[in-house]
Amino acid sequence: MTRDHVDLQPLNTLRVPAMAEHFAEVTVSSQLEGLLAHARSNRWPITVLGEGSNVVLGNVLPGLVLLQRCKGISVLEEDDSRARVQVAAGENWHSFVRWCLERGYLGLENLALIPGSVGAAPIQNIGAYGVEVGEFIETVHCRLLPNGEHKVLDRGACDFGYRDSVFKRDLSDATLIESVTFQLPKAREPVTSYPTLANYLEAYDIVDPDAQQVFEAVVEIRSNRLPDPAELPNVGSFFKNPVLAEEAFTSLAAGHPGVPHYDDPVGHKIPAAWLIEQCGFKRREGAVRVHADHALVIINPEHRPAGEIVALARDIVGAVQARFGILLEQEPRRYGIFEQ
Ligand code: FAD
Ligand code: EPU
Repeated sequence: MTRDHVDLQPLNTLRVPAMAEHFAEVTVSSQLEGLLAHARSNRWPITVLGEGSNVVLGNVLPGLVLLQRCKGISVLEEDDSRARVQVAAGENWHSFVRWCLERGYLGLENLALIPGSVGAAPIQNIGAYGVEVGEFIETVHCRLLPNGEHKVLDRGACDFGYRDSVFKRDLSDATLIESVTFQLPKAREPVTSYPTLANYLEAYDIVDPDAQQVFEAVVEIRSNRLPDPAELPNVGSFFKNPVLAEEAFTSLAAGHPGVPHYDDPVGHKIPAAWLIEQCGFKRREGAVRVHADHALVIINPEHRPAGEIVALARDIVGAVQARFGILLEQEPRRYGIFEQ
């Protein structure tokens, strides 16, 4: 039921060479008991992968890699105002967003075209164009690793934040998510305030857009701004946007009057792309480099090993810290053993 020495290069969107010591694809939940017992008896650590669009994999992943591919969508309850929908973790995120729109379940349209699986969405509380998924999550059904105990977390227990949740803190790498239950409204004012989206709608004279129009705008903006990992390997934003408290922001703005920022209740969010671009990385060449159209995206066109990506990331962090005194935090998660 497990395979040894499995090539993970096709299973991560950075296309770094990586190998799983032991590997299994989970397509039905009933496989899990046996797989987890096998891992326990061999004392294998477990790494869970979805579609590999937010991970940086080292050359070797020791232990067992579980690829979560369970499928299925069930409408648990529906009335005139909302629907409750349970979705298996292995469903593709963008396909699920389209499925919701077709049925008139609203709210996820701003999150169109985000790569990856439904099961990974709660991990970093995926967000884009003014919306975060946590707002629509009712419960997350998971198994604790390695014992397999069932656990259901409600939205409060998930403790969602900006690119953050309990799954990156107390429960970091301690669960396998089996399904996510969403509560989706059937009437909702579209969220159009995010500057890039607002500018796009204005440029095309789209006033009072409906959810379908927001979906189409987001798909168009993303397709123009972000490289398609199938053509140019990447993991989206490589760093989180730093959030500064008042004092730190005032001091940054005094030294750099043109600094762009988005202000929200958590503080002043500074686009990491701007910080990186100011440090000259868009002009840097190399097999592994930042994308010419978006400085927050590291691209790996020649499928080089993760060590080279980590080295560039380290240079970026060092340069931004030296120039702006801001420590960038990596967004994609690292697994395995890294060799230069
Ligand atoms: P993986 O990369 O396979 O895994 C990511 C993490 O989740 C790992 O820690 C893994 O262990 C864990 N995980 C995955 N599945 C499970 C599971 N079933 N149970 C437990 N743990 C699990 N993200 C955004 O938030 N907003 C964006 O706008 C955005 N744009 C992107 C654009 C591009 C071009 C790319 C390549 C990525 C972008 N991302 C964005 C990041 C990425 O799409 C999300 O993080 C996505 O949720 C990752 O899904 P995945 O299935 O590929 O997860
Ligand atoms: N900018 C630059 N140089 C660039 C690109 C952008 O200076 O090369 C500056 C501009 O000032 C621009 C600003 O950065 O206005 C913001 O750019 P963008 O709208 O592309 O958003 P972002 O802050 O770079 C975040 C998310 C994205 C998400 C978009 C849209 C993070 C870390 N990234 O990017 O998420 O799609 O907003 O909401 O929060 C991801 O997580 O992988 C991801 C792509």
